[in-house]
Amino acid sequence: MCGITAYVGTDDAVGGLLTGLANLEYRGYDSAGIAVKNGRGLRVVKREGELERLREALGTERPTGTIGIGHTRWSTHGPPTDENAHPHTDCTGRVAVVHNGIIENYETLREELSATGHEFHSETDTEVVPHLIEAELERHENPESAFRAAVSRLEGSYAIACLVDETEVVYAARQGSPLVLGQAEGRYFLASDVPAFREFTDEVVYLEDGDIVVVRPDGYTVTDCSGVPLARPVETVDWEPEAAGKSGYPHYMLKEIHEQPASLRQTLQGRVESLAGTVTLEEFPPGAFADVEQVQFVAMGTSHHAAMYAASMLSGRGVTANAYMAGEYADSPPPMSADTLVVAVTQSGETADTMNAVRRARDGGARTLAVTNVVGSSVTRECDDSLFIRAGPEIGVAATKTFSSQVATLSLVAERVAEDVTGVASADTRALLDALSDLPGDVQRILDESPAREVAEALYGCDAYFFIGRRAAYPVALEGALKFKEITYEHAEGFAASELKHGPLALVTDETPVFGVLTGEDETKTIGNLKEVQARDAPVIVVAPPSKADKVGFADYVLTIPESHPEVGGILANVQLQLVSYHAADLLGRPIDKPRNLAKSVTVE
Ligand code: G6P
Repeated sequence: MCGITAYVGTDDAVGGLLTGLANLEYRGYDSAGIAVKNGRGLRVVKREGELERLREALGTERPTGTIGIGHTRWSTHGPPTDENAHPHTDCTGRVAVVHNGIIENYETLREELSATGHEFHSETDTEVVPHLIEAELERHENPESAFRAAVSRLEGSYAIACLVDETEVVYAARQGSPLVLGQAEGRYFLASDVPAFREFTDEVVYLEDGDIVVVRPDGYTVTDCSGVPLARPVETVDWEPEAAGKSGYPHYMLKEIHEQPASLRQTLQGRVESLAGTVTLEEFPPGAFADVEQVQFVAMGTSHHAAMYAASMLSGRGVTANAYMAGEYADSPPPMSADTLVVAVTQSGETADTMNAVRRARDGGARTLAVTNVVGSSVTRECDDSLFIRAGPEIGVAATKTFSSQVATLSLVAERVAEDVTGVASADTRALLDALSDLPGDVQRILDESPAREVAEALYGCDAYFFIGRRAAYPVALEGALKFKEITYEHAEGFAASELKHGPLALVTDETPVFGVLTGEDETKTIGNLKEVQARDAPVIVVAPPSKADKVGFADYVLTIPESHPEVGGILANVQLQLVSYHAADLLGRPIDKPRNLAKSVTVE
């Protein structure tokens, strides 16, 4: 999983490439490099480590040129080293390539190319691509034909951008990995994602699988692999460049936590009419899901927790629904039929496990729906329908605002599906929609008043952290623990409160704070579980609305959430837990936006 970028213009390419790479670092940051074309051939500069190391190298050997390609890497084949960093070149230095994805037949190609004298210097799958282009350049006079011929030999997933020395062109191809084109006056950009070039333009072309793009200083063409021209619309992105910057916050994660009132408003806008008690879901009018018999959610990570939340909502409304880890689902799918609705929940729309689960669902004849944050992402191309959570770009690796927007969107989906399937509106619909309408303001109150910093100060540095909850609070407990471990590197686990006494209780000591999530239902049993751990000396932190105040007075700390509907209370409780994780990680001095070993978009299985 990596980010690629390309620049074609008439001024300095290096600045545009570095800006693009900085904006794409959330896709990977273990090495980076650029190649620039100037009158004296291709200049490649690449370094293992974060982008800063590349900047330092460019300080002493900054190439000049108006056309270039760049890459920020997250290793899949070969460790992060200077040699394995992209761009990769051919034997002659005429061809330079950056790539995101996996070339599945690279071993066969490498053997074939080695046998004809090509020399390889890295352990990457990508390096076969420039050598393949080099070989095709001997057969084709026209570099574009050579590029097409080389691409047609590749199996796997790729977004590729390529420079060939004697041309004033960037050649690019997309298959299974994201690639978008941006156009500004006199300049073109290619990138894995729009934030790479959003500060330069809001005009974008979302490329599709199988597209070949040839970008020149005076224009671009999109064709299929055999050269047949394709029309791809130019679209205008509806978010401002500042949305992809830190806006004065020390970390993207904190900025994104604080954006939740705005992002939730955007998610819910035009979809909730609480007075009338109606849900409006764009292309899903009442009856759109009337044929559905069961719902299977597929997702990973934070999205999986949102999916569990939604499955529990649907089950509570009389619809058979389950949430699966997409990776498991892809390997051993449950029974399904044309009456099964498979909902892929994925912030990025690119997660490989989730994409594979979608393909299995399609093979099984199920109807597929993508619930994602990224317009034009791969999942939207593979599913029958898409619904966008409209959270805006999320850069911090730890997902925060997108979880809230996923749950809010999925709760509307649950309402619509349940009504269509059971034929009756839930008696509870109006209360839920009222609570959703109040949600942005309620989140703001938490952000204004949360004592999360004091809780983190009191408790950071313990042996382990446990999170428990029931019903809607169970996925919130899992999400609370996931966030905590991701960014603090402390041991954290979430459990169904009922599971606590079946094993985890053996780990409870005065060094294991236990967070109890109460969302406003009758939670006598969870409160009993919290008393059990307190009797074993564990510090107890309760997240609860004021109506529970008299019942949770025994707790060491209370993180209060506004009164709400229990199914919306989970979103509120999660915001408190996001803040505790953030502050604990900050006190521990962790690199919050780039936790070790993790990446935001995991495009390999
Ligand atoms: C990675 C990220 C998580 C994310 C998960 C699923 O593990 O680090 O934050 O929840 O992928 O990503 P998706 O884009 O499919 O929601």
